Amino acid sequence: MSGKRRKRRVDIALKIRAGPPIFPANFTPSMSPPNESERFRKAMRSVPTGVTVVTSVKDGEPRGMTVSAFAPVSADPPLVLVCVNREARSYLYISHSRIFCVNVLDSDQRDLAEHFAGKVRDRQFERIAYETAATGAPVLPGALAHFDCEVDVEHHAGSHSIFVGRVVALGARDGAPLGYFDGAFRDFGL
Ligand SMILES: Cc1cc2nc3c(=O)[nH]c(=O)nc-3n(C[C@H](O)[C@H](O)[C@H](O)COP(=O)(O)O)c2cc1C
Repeated sequence: MSGKRRKRRVDIALKIRAGPPIFPANFTPSMSPPNESERFRKAMRSVPTGVTVVTSVKDGEPRGMTVSAFAPVSADPPLVLVCVNREARSYLYISHSRIFCVNVLDSDQRDLAEHFAGKVRDRQFERIAYETAATGAPVLPGALAHFDCEVDVEHHAGSHSIFVGRVVALGARDGAPLGYFDGAFRDFGL
């Protein structure tokens, strides 16, 4: 191969290996990824939600965590979803046992929301009254509703897993929900 041709090949190979630029040409610091996630978190403060405690059990040990990312998926068959950070202790419980129960909190259950959002290492249910759902997961008495689920499918999505649960048992009663908005628990006055 002539020297000229070889040089051209090397030039092309370098271009391919370099790939597209990591940042677009009009990159400014406000578009950097860390800033984006901060803007995302800030925007999410404007989204009002209910508050749930998602419970599970592994090797006879109950576990729960406060979760606002809960939504209905389908009525027939009855499916719901929750988004759980894979760094949370509860993640291991749900992914191992393949069951969870969503407890929708009443406005007077703020203390439970705070307890299950804390980093309690062991014996998390030591001072918490609970009943046992059909799946074996804890049901919190006084909750507005509960949805006892078997995991239908798990989707990895960024830092979280979306668990779609098939509802095997449920309960609901009248009352006012606990809300969360702008970084604080709220009584939506419903
Ligand atoms: C109002 C509120 C809502 C939350 N929603 C979620 C959620 O949807 N998903 C999630 O993974 N963590 C959520 N968290 C954070 C967990 O409750 C928290 O990380 C918990 O300590 C995890 O506990 P664990 O690591 O002991 O399982 C929320 C916290 C609060 C206060």
